[in-house]
Amino acid sequence: MKKIVFALPGNEALAKYFANTIQADLGVTEIRNFPDGETYVRILSSVEGKEVIVVCTLHQPDAKLLPLLFICNLLRDLKVRSICLVAPYLAYMRQDKQFNPGEAVTSAYFAKLLSLQVDRLVTVDPHLHRRVSMKEIYSIPCEVLHADGLISEWVKKYIPNALLIGPDSESEQWVSEVAKNAGVPFIVLEKIRHGDCDVEISVPKVEGYKNYTPVLVDDIISTARTMIETVELLKKAGMKPPVCIGVHAVFAGNAYKDLIKSGVSKVITCNTIFHESNAIDIGEIIAPHLL
Ligand code: R5P
Repeated sequence: MKKIVFALPGNEALAKYFANTIQADLGVTEIRNFPDGETYVRILSSVEGKEVIVVCTLHQPDAKLLPLLFICNLLRDLKVRSICLVAPYLAYMRQDKQFNPGEAVTSAYFAKLLSLQVDRLVTVDPHLHRRVSMKEIYSIPCEVLHADGLISEWVKKYIPNALLIGPDSESEQWVSEVAKNAGVPFIVLEKIRHGDCDVEISVPKVEGYKNYTPVLVDDIISTARTMIETVELLKKAGMKPPVCIGVHAVFAGNAYKDLIKSGVSKVITCNTIFHESNAIDIGEIIAPHLL
């Protein structure tokens, strides 16, 4: 029996690509809001006994979670064989410890919720920092895929003489892999976060790299304060305008505009979250895992 792929709103292009690539059917739904804001969900395809793939990236997750839970419950009622969730961006991974007494460790609560709904999760570069493995919080099988290979290819193709820069110690895992595959040098900076929009970054000696094009690489660009602070320090150090690469284009509020204004040469992201800066397509790394 053919698999069937469903898109939650906003995920249609990736869902269509997956369905074509793995020769699955593309499911038809009606998802809309009632006038009072509640969600209406209807499945118009036949799904009984089928392995179902639901594509729902989880940027701005609070509004997406309820429609996702409804569709998963409906699929179970319609007696599907299994549900695999493809969430190219997985939210709530950063609140991974109690920083202050009384705080919710929402990464664990979110994981518990999703683990009850689906049988398997496929995601790209989840923010695993203090946690080493998804198994610590997810009780379902999780396939963690990485965008570093695609980013290396992009850097090799478009940026001659690149110096990769990781803005903080957490980014070392991505930057070192990208640099190794692209065959270019890398440095990692030190960051202290004082608040949601307040970060302090220190730049090591970069005199030897003045002829290089700095390429900042991070997993998430959210407020963009990490990138902007780094761009400013590199400017002061007399480096060329950097290229900024983020896997996940979260871009809260005016973050994208502010980053562009800060004097970067380019901002590039992967399409784990649909955004005008998308230049690296992650569809091809996910599709083989849906066969
Ligand atoms: C840090 O934990 C992450 O790897 C990113 O550096 C961080 O999420 C970026 O956040 P923002 O864009 O808000 O500075």
